[in-house]
Amino acid sequence: MSLNETFVDTSYISYSIIKDKRVLRDSYIPDNLPGREEQIFQFSRILSDLLTDQPPSDTAFIGKPGTGKTAVVKHVIKKYRNEYPNLRARFAYINCSQATTAYRVLYQLNRAMQVLVPPSGYPFDVLWDKFVDAYTSSHSRLIIILDEVDLLVRRDGGRLLYALTRLNYDLPKELSISLVVISNTLDFLERLGPRERSSFEPNRLQFPPYNQPQLYQILRQRADLGLKVGTWEDETLQYIAAKVSQESGDARRAIDVLRMAAELTESERADKLRVNYAERAIDTVNEEEVSITIRTLPLHHRLILAAIIDVLERAGVRPGTGTIYNTYKKRASSYGVKPLTMRRVSSILRELESQGLVEIRMEYGGARGNTKIVERTTLPIKQMRSLLAQMGIN
Ligand SMILES: Nc1ncnc2c1ncn2[C@@H]1O[C@H](COP(=O)(O)OP(=O)(O)OP(=O)(O)O)[C@@H](O)[C@H]1O
Ligand SMILES: [Mg+2]
Repeated sequence: MSLNETFVDTSYISYSIIKDKRVLRDSYIPDNLPGREEQIFQFSRILSDLLTDQPPSDTAFIGKPGTGKTAVVKHVIKKYRNEYPNLRARFAYINCSQATTAYRVLYQLNRAMQVLVPPSGYPFDVLWDKFVDAYTSSHSRLIIILDEVDLLVRRDGGRLLYALTRLNYDLPKELSISLVVISNTLDFLERLGPRERSSFEPNRLQFPPYNQPQLYQILRQRADLGLKVGTWEDETLQYIAAKVSQESGDARRAIDVLRMAAELTESERADKLRVNYAERAIDTVNEEEVSITIRTLPLHHRLILAAIIDVLERAGVRPGTGTIYNTYKKRASSYGVKPLTMRRVSSILRELESQGLVEIRMEYGGARGNTKIVERTTLPIKQMRSLLAQMGIN
């Protein structure tokens, strides 16, 4: 008897299909990014001013979640650092979802200049002066990358961006600050105050949602790197790419589904990652998301969602704003709360749509003008009902 047979449960090993878990995680950035060649090219070109010792212009990366903004910025910075180790430039990457206040960002900037300041409690001006002093006595151009910048702008209206761009006027010629701001709300630039907007006019780099062939390539790369040879079917990847491109074009989501499907395959000791595992993974991801969203909904939103379901369940009734409103009013009064106005309910329908709970289509120029028609709920009605029931809406 060999050692193997005695001590190792080889039956388990033969069922594992994941070769490298890291590759299927969100933090993993592969060496090439399929479908983002154009954005990589554009951003590299903007930064190439550094090669002739010129200040690169400010840039805004704009695109929905999971469209590769963070991946591209990190990829290009890494390339610059590796290929041009002697460049007279310094990159400071700051994620504003961790540093949501101007103070936190300034704290990070000080750290990037090797100035240690306390993480809280200092007067803002002192922190600012320390940063300016440290930077003016340095010898590199500075590229500040503010990822998820909308969170910062929501807090301070863009005042820090403004201060940083204005600082360029006081700097000697060999120094400069370039800003790279990354946002997943498309209208973020329009939200800056007038003063901020007129002093900050970045190049815009758009990140459209990924289409099906692009998502397929992204998944293919993860499967090749992260799964064992012969443990997955190409059809499964095609299926995930098709589904995710229809609903969002979000690469993070596609990779999540792949990871969950692979884990399901392993846990059920199946030999191969087949389409039905991807189907189940998508259902699970959807249900989790919807359940989290419903849990955060205010009462009236929940009642409106319940009314939508009531209406959708009634055969032959048009699920338009008016019908939904009447059903909602009954629900509100039997719940003992005063119903909101029709206008408000109509706008909440849009909110429910943007939270990914329902799909809405507009019907133009009917007898009562334009109406919203709810096409369907994201999850099957039965699942929606049971999630709502868990929140006390029956
Ligand atoms: N073109 C691509 N090729 C391979 N992997 C990609 C690609 N684009 C995105 N990814 C992967 O998908 C995930 C999400 O991408 P990323 O974090 O860059 O999205 P994002 O646009 O910054 O989203 P958010 O707005 O939510 O921050 C990451 O794990 C990333 O590695
Ligand atoms: Mg990001």
